[in-house]
Amino acid sequence: MERYRVDLRSDTVSRPSASMRAAMAAAEVGDDWFGDDPTVNRLQERAAEVTGKEAALYVPTGTMANQISLRLHVTGAGHLVAATDGAHVASTEMTTSAVLSGIAYKTGDPGPRGWMTAELARSLVEDEDPYDVEAIDLLAVENTMGHAGGTVMPVEELRAIRKIADEAGLPIHLDGARIFNASVAAGVDVSEYAREVDTLMFCVSKGLGAPIGSLVCGTRAHIREARRLKILFGGAWRQAGIMAAAGLIALEDGPSRLHEDHERARRLAEGVVERLPGSIDPATVETNMVYVDTEAVGLPPIETIDRLGDLGVGATFVSGKVRMVTHVDVDDDGIALALDGWRSVAADVAKEM
Ligand SMILES: Cc1ncc(COP(=O)(O)O)c(C=O)c1O
Repeated sequence: MERYRVDLRSDTVSRPSASMRAAMAAAEVGDDWFGDDPTVNRLQERAAEVTGKEAALYVPTGTMANQISLRLHVTGAGHLVAATDGAHVASTEMTTSAVLSGIAYKTGDPGPRGWMTAELARSLVEDEDPYDVEAIDLLAVENTMGHAGGTVMPVEELRAIRKIADEAGLPIHLDGARIFNASVAAGVDVSEYAREVDTLMFCVSKGLGAPIGSLVCGTRAHIREARRLKILFGGAWRQAGIMAAAGLIALEDGPSRLHEDHERARRLAEGVVERLPGSIDPATVETNMVYVDTEAVGLPPIETIDRLGDLGVGATFVSGKVRMVTHVDVDDDGIALALDGWRSVAADVAKEM
């Protein structure tokens, strides 16, 4: 039996569609260690085309995609990557970066929308102290910014950051796990964002709906070295064409339906605030993430998540809030179910008052 009637814990929980499963069953495969899986190669070519980069590399996870990318740019143990507080690379992947590549982070708070600003980038990379021996090798940015609620960095900001990076002689890596959500919300092609960075990664396993996989995109030279690092990190996954077949469908069909996830997320937020005034401002929902501040209305978040879970609604705890994420397997009925759950939560609060 399914654990939840509607699973909003993440956009990673979606199941492959019937057409994905059919393509996976029929996929032509080879051995990806040798670089001769034709379906993987097709996905990589398509990813390079879509992002406008010279080449791309298919890897099992977003974490591996980021870690390979960081290692491409960071030249020595103890060197720093400049990022925002809460950036996935500098929080969830902080210890991974330290263990795999000796990377440490220099971070700062860019304000409530969470994404890197030109102002913060400048303050992080500017070397004001003549006795300072820190070595910053890379500026890392993230779009959408997960920890801040799936917020969208405007391409103009990235252009301004590019200028600062150029002045400082630094490359930029974009953690674009959800760059297609950003692109749809901003009405800006993914290649416009990609043009401003040296490398980017994106996940087909999140909003785009594939079961597994992420792509590192960059120059041919980057990707040649990235392939070596993928093998080094244990990511040479043999007949991966079975997965890449689903990734190709996700990349073709996924982006055109993301606006539906964004609309449903906004409706979910509007429904929640009707039931629990003061718990969220629906205007802050820019893509597919809804962060409810239950503490602001006197509800402990973990207990709320447990209560929602008992009611068949999957949610998680992120940044001190109750997080829900819409995706391809959440339809209008799913949103109604979730709001029924929140109605019960709100009724419990009313009873206790
Ligand atoms: C912004 C961001 N980057 C990277 C990752 C890592 O992806 P994965 O879970 O596939 O390793 C995530 C995962 O949720 C993410 O949200």
